[in-house]
Amino acid sequence: MTAGMVIIGGGECGARAAFALRENGYAGSVTLIGAEKHLPYERPPLSKDTMISPEHPLARTIAGEDRFAEQDIRFVAGTTAIGIDREAKNVILAGDNRLAYDRLLLATGAVPRPLPLAAASRHCACLRSYDDALAIRAQLQPGARIVIVGGGFIGLELAASARQRGAVVTVLETQARILMRGVPEEIAAVIAARHRQEGVLIRCGVAIAAITDKDIGVTITLADGEKLEADLAVIGIGALPVTALAEAAGLETANGILVNAHLQTSDPDIFAAGDCCAFPLALYDGRQVRLEAWRNAQEQGTLAARNMLGLCEPHLAVPWFWSDQYELGLQVAGLADEGARTIRRDLGDGAFILFHLAADGRLVAASGIGPGSSVARDIRLAEMLIARSACPDQAHLAAPDIKLKSLLAA
Ligand code: APR
Repeated sequence: MTAGMVIIGGGECGARAAFALRENGYAGSVTLIGAEKHLPYERPPLSKDTMISPEHPLARTIAGEDRFAEQDIRFVAGTTAIGIDREAKNVILAGDNRLAYDRLLLATGAVPRPLPLAAASRHCACLRSYDDALAIRAQLQPGARIVIVGGGFIGLELAASARQRGAVVTVLETQARILMRGVPEEIAAVIAARHRQEGVLIRCGVAIAAITDKDIGVTITLADGEKLEADLAVIGIGALPVTALAEAAGLETANGILVNAHLQTSDPDIFAAGDCCAFPLALYDGRQVRLEAWRNAQEQGTLAARNMLGLCEPHLAVPWFWSDQYELGLQVAGLADEGARTIRRDLGDGAFILFHLAADGRLVAASGIGPGSSVARDIRLAEMLIARSACPDQAHLAAPDIKLKSLLAA
């Protein structure tokens, strides 16, 4: 191999992959191409610390320039790859500049799902990048009227941050409840109650009919004709995988760039990882999923690097995600919708864990909520049980005095 490794996408996943190539002893050239002008940075703080920190928030970079230099990783900022020539094994950049590769990783991530009604508005924003976050933050003034469209993670974390900044917040959700995707109702209810306590108005089962800009602010008209006035509307209605490059190059896609358990696309020299890829989850009999989650981006970035070097290791991790809102910490290990029955364990202080069991008694997921990191330890242990496809005794799961660690030993 002579051309080296090229990674398209300078987010969590791409950056981790670049460093992992070096950690695994790769000595050839490594090029990381990022569309944003910033060094790779962490996205989770954007809806939280970046919004509420008293000081001007800096992006939390994954590695500084010195580490890129020390590891001899070439980071090309502010550059978008516009094509892949699979025959020549070239990535095409603007101006027909070409970059040869031996192996290529697509870590192109996801973009906010657009709301067509908001397309022409100057007072609607989405949150994905650090620049997006700064623009939203600038408007979170005391008394500012913020309407958030979408009661998912982004919308609710932003709602909490906006309240903490003194804004007046309304959340509009089309579904019958918030957090329909991946969060059990019992946990969503705790989050909803906490928001209400802060004065956030959460309205479920509503549809937006029109969004009209005014000189200052925007009018949001609901399907029943009611009009809401806002200084800013933030649209958080999900994310779409960035697959255009892969599609144009003839790679297989379906809700993401399709990869096998080794994160290899339909072209064996091209890998895909993180938010942009759909992969078979070994844990659930190869169910094909796409995970938009920080830890998944890290794990898959690292694994893709190893497999680009020929290690041929399967992706086996248990999905895991978290959300922090006010003082509450929510965590989910596994995919809760795999469960047929739920067992609750109360941890005190209002914290609890739900264990999700398949019909055959296997623990397939666990979700929990409580102040701070009160559920973290038990979720971590549950994750280990899930990874082993354990069938724990249900009475033991429910009994807080029986340590989960002892179930692991069993
Ligand atoms: N009007 C109102 N609500 C809508 C509309 C609409 N037109 N369309 C969708 N929704 C709701 C969905 O029902 C859902 O509750 O928006 C919510 C979107 O939630 P998520 O799918 O969790 O997406 P989002 O919150 O945008 O987060 C995007 O970024 O940080 C990551 O983990 C996060 O993967 C997530 C991604």
